[in-house]
Amino acid sequence: MKTVLLLSGPNLSLTGQRQPEIYGTNTMADIVELARKAAADVGWQVEHLSAESEGPLVEAIHAARGRVNAVVINPGALTHYAWALADALAAFEGPVVEVHLSQPAGREPWRRVSVVAPVAAASISGLGAAGYETAVLAVARMS
Ligand code: DQA
Repeated sequence: MKTVLLLSGPNLSLTGQRQPEIYGTNTMADIVELARKAAADVGWQVEHLSAESEGPLVEAIHAARGRVNAVVINPGALTHYAWALADALAAFEGPVVEVHLSQPAGREPWRRVSVVAPVAAASISGLGAAGYETAVLAVARMS
């Protein structure tokens, strides 16, 4: 079965509790479940890793090389400055889709830059939990 690696960066573990007016009331467990259902509908499975720092995400992307078919990543604030994360994603051979619960481009100026976008096939922002379902279906179509 094809596998998508779903990665959550810093503070995404608090989704559902932190700033619900921005990030919604679904927990990350709820969102992963939605992603799993969307993946199962097209015959895929989801592996999820949540990490509060860049290193474990980079290591997971390295370990995904040659083993996993696609990556969906919400890097949290790492989106805006994590060059090592961008390099790791560039070294991954399958499709990468960046997803954000909120619409960073409409928020503070420092959120307007994504260092991940140049190495992603697509970026999905502002759709809340539904963005994860869309991202999973998108990588399945691309693979
Ligand atoms: C986020 C947007 C980022 O700017 C922020 O730092 C996050 C969450 C989102 O999902 O909207 O932690 O990636």
